[in-house]
Amino acid sequence: MKKITFIGTGYVGLVSGAGISDFGHKVICADISKEKICTLNNGEIPIYEPGLNDLVKKNVDAGRLSFSSNIENSIKDSDIIFIAVGTPESNDGSADISAVKSVAILIAENLNDYKVICTKSTVPVGTGELVKNIISENINNNVSFDYVSNPEFLREGSAVNDFLWPDRVVIGADNKRSFNIMKEVYDPLYINNKPILNTSIVTAEMIKYAANAFLALKISYINEVANLCEALGADVHQVAKAMGKDGRISPKFLHPGPGFGGSCFPKDTQAFATLSRENELTMNTIEAAIKANQYQKDRMVKKMKHLVGGHFKDKKISILGLSFKPNTDDVRDSASIDMINAIKKGGGSVRAYDPIANEMMNDIIDDIKFFKSWEDACLDADGVAIMTEWNEFRAINLEQLKKIMNEPVLLDTRNIINIKKLNEHNFKFDNVGRGDHNAH
Ligand code: UGA
Repeated sequence: MKKITFIGTGYVGLVSGAGISDFGHKVICADISKEKICTLNNGEIPIYEPGLNDLVKKNVDAGRLSFSSNIENSIKDSDIIFIAVGTPESNDGSADISAVKSVAILIAENLNDYKVICTKSTVPVGTGELVKNIISENINNNVSFDYVSNPEFLREGSAVNDFLWPDRVVIGADNKRSFNIMKEVYDPLYINNKPILNTSIVTAEMIKYAANAFLALKISYINEVANLCEALGADVHQVAKAMGKDGRISPKFLHPGPGFGGSCFPKDTQAFATLSRENELTMNTIEAAIKANQYQKDRMVKKMKHLVGGHFKDKKISILGLSFKPNTDDVRDSASIDMINAIKKGGGSVRAYDPIANEMMNDIIDDIKFFKSWEDACLDADGVAIMTEWNEFRAINLEQLKKIMNEPVLLDTRNIINIKKLNEHNFKFDNVGRGDHNAH
């Protein structure tokens, strides 16, 4: 059993900390925010993540997981320190690692014995070297340490499962001692035959960006294929299904939509592209994926505008789904933001509903109306845009929807509504690349 501290109780720190405590280790999740720690100590989880409540409770009850705002003591008491603080996008597109740097100094100042310092936050390639130097420069005794990189591959909404059943664990470690310590942390996965890959630190950092950027690229690609399908009358879902049968392509992340959002792909693709420019290279593919993504978000706005008569002036538009994907309340870079802003700018009004993300959206956009059900949000609407594929929207009763709307007009940016039924109920509708819409 290892004694471990996670610094940063965002969704990465909390899910990973709880997950590792579930592997049998003793974990402290520490944060400078006393308020967050107080919430956690009261048994409440500050983020919405399916399965996390149960995982946290189980391990707190077992005495393996605790929360503390005393980061100094937590560091001193642990064998391994995970850095899991935020690395938001800064103005120039690069990742802001100021929190990582501050934590590195704090760790150095409290290093009382040999420890492994591990970065889990997504940091620009090369940060490991920097963090190592910061720690070395700020240590005021003879204690040694090893630095490792252990990137996360968790999807919001299924992060607990992704942590407990990963496709792989990447450990960037420069020596056997630190790799073996980290391997012990993940032993239950190793026993279950999950691959644990040992790379250099810089390679581990690279793997994280290369994987995220590739997935983003795949989404932008299928979105562009979808747009061409629309023009030519083909069905993108059949195209994607057939493409995905090829093991070299795989069926995952080939679902067309309104453009990717969230806290990772938009930020990480920008950071990756910036990193390549800083190294006097151009990642043409990634630049194109970013551009295609904005194009897709704008295209959804154009589709909606077209559906309601070419302008938003005095139109009442219902937005169903605000989060960037289902099963999360995260609205960061969600395509719904572009849609809402365009409707407002065009002189229309927005009636929004999300099963759990109303509040989060309200924090950044406060001049639209939020409702507690899709039925309320769609009342008297001139058009409705489905922006997130929440399950409850799949089951929308079109007869009822038509009755409550001013005009039966629907944009399905997630392709979850049956086209045959839309036609049967005489909806004017559009979607993404299904080769069957009646909006033109
Ligand atoms: C992503 C990666 O999938 C994780 O492996 C990674 O660990 C994480 O970023 C991170 O770096 O922390 P996440 O952003 O939570 O996870 O969500 P995804 O499921 O990847 O979806 C991202 C966006 O792509 C969403 O807006 C989603 O709607 C969109 N998407 C996804 C599509 O439009 N089509 C698809 O086929 C898949």
